[in-house]
Amino acid sequence: MLSKKMEQALNDQINAELYSSYLYLSMQAYFESVNLSGSANWMKAQTQEELMHAVKLYDFVNERNGRVLLNAIDKPPTEWKSPLDVFEQVFKHEQKVTELINNLVNLANDEKDHATVSFLQWFVNEQVEEEASADAVRQQLKLMESAPGGLFMLDKELAQRVFTPPAANQGA
Ligand SMILES: [Fe+2]
Ligand SMILES: [Fe+2]
Repeated sequence: MLSKKMEQALNDQINAELYSSYLYLSMQAYFESVNLSGSANWMKAQTQEELMHAVKLYDFVNERNGRVLLNAIDKPPTEWKSPLDVFEQVFKHEQKVTELINNLVNLANDEKDHATVSFLQWFVNEQVEEEASADAVRQQLKLMESAPGGLFMLDKELAQRVFTPPAANQGA
């Protein structure tokens, strides 16, 4: 059974993951508006991943006999200065989410809730990947500031990203 405090914190994280999904959907719409369909595709996969994170937390709260309580999702930004600006914001956002996950682990440790500590390890590892993949695109865009032709090559590369739904037996 989850403590009330842990339950509330996990519900807050469900909201944070849904906001992430909403933010990336807004970024997808931005890329579509400037005809960068590969970058829009990258965001589409990212949006789906974040939704999967929310569902993973949702299922865990239920499994532990907690109560999922959904809250309003904040309005995401809708305009960015450039593709680099978008990926700077993605990287910043993922760093913020990492901090939220670390705070959740700290709380679970304080509560001596070993099951939640164990469950959250998946998110700890996922955040390493999330920060790295956003940073990789950000770094490439930075290198291209003086050679804008590279943007079209990079956009083609980002078009290759595919969202793979997790296998059911992994519970991810
Ligand atoms: Fe996430
Ligand atoms: Fe993320």
